[in-house]
Amino acid sequence: MSSFIRELPKVELHLHIEGTLEPEMVFYLAKRNGITLDYADESALRAAYQFNDLQSFLNIYYQGMQVLQTEQDFFDLTWAYLARSHQENVRHVEIFFDPQAHTERGVAFADVVNGISGALAKAKQEWGLTSYLIMSFLRHLSQEAAFETLQQAKPFKSFITGVGLDSAERGNPPTKFTQVFAVAAQQGYRLVAHAGEEGPASYIRDALDILKVERIDHGVAAIHDAPLMARLAQERIPLTVCPLSNLVLKVVDDMSEHPMLALLHAGVCVTVNADDPAYFGGYMNANYQALQEGLGASDADLLQLALNSVEACWLPESEKATLV
Ligand code: HPA
Ligand code: ZN
Repeated sequence: MSSFIRELPKVELHLHIEGTLEPEMVFYLAKRNGITLDYADESALRAAYQFNDLQSFLNIYYQGMQVLQTEQDFFDLTWAYLARSHQENVRHVEIFFDPQAHTERGVAFADVVNGISGALAKAKQEWGLTSYLIMSFLRHLSQEAAFETLQQAKPFKSFITGVGLDSAERGNPPTKFTQVFAVAAQQGYRLVAHAGEEGPASYIRDALDILKVERIDHGVAAIHDAPLMARLAQERIPLTVCPLSNLVLKVVDDMSEHPMLALLHAGVCVTVNADDPAYFGGYMNANYQALQEGLGASDADLLQLALNSVEACWLPESEKATLV
């Protein structure tokens, strides 16, 4: 790992907190909560992390998070991620959580948000590590279910800055959620959506023009659509790209074929993020390193990527200045 990458001040904009659940913590929480797992030990669980596509990952991801049951579990999960981020010189994070994946199992919305928010507040106090929380709707579920979740979030509005859209992309286009995104915007949430990970570039356009999101999560399919790329560059619409995720989920066959640098050099505001680091082989520094070693990104490229994240984040301009 180069000292340049380690010392670079970083901002993370695409991270699912449930995707930071390491096998060791799965076993620790299973024991604490009296749950029997289908795997003999940590290494047997890790060996099951073999993915062909997004859906094969999601199956394991939703299974793993069933050990998260109490407010303390969500606090411990989030705290472990923030401690790791602090070690890697990550200065600000905007993280997703998937409330429906927990409330569907009978976990209280309050326990999820209070656990996560408690850890976020502690990291700000201890390290000055700032954060925003983004509530993601699961796109394989109905718009009606998303509306119910928006309603459940009402008492916690002050802890939740944005609304997002994740889970199985193909067959679940942005237009399925047009009304709920409009209402979320009226309620004062900022908007993002996963689009163009496995889905087509048209999902990116629809997320921008119909859902009216301000950032696209992933968005790598834009590389196949020259007019869209030109628009993204012209309007400086940020893409929160996740290199190791794209490799492990076979969005790209090899890191040398990743579109990150083509997008960067075309003037698109691309950023580096870890997505689900416990499953995809690394946190922020590992993602920067993959671009350096696998794609030949220069230190100047990596610096520009880090500056793009500062530009794309939601901190007030006065606070952005203190990040770099
Ligand atoms: N894509 C879609 N849904 C997800 C992801 C992702 O990368 N990670 C967690 N849920
Ligand atoms: Zn994601």
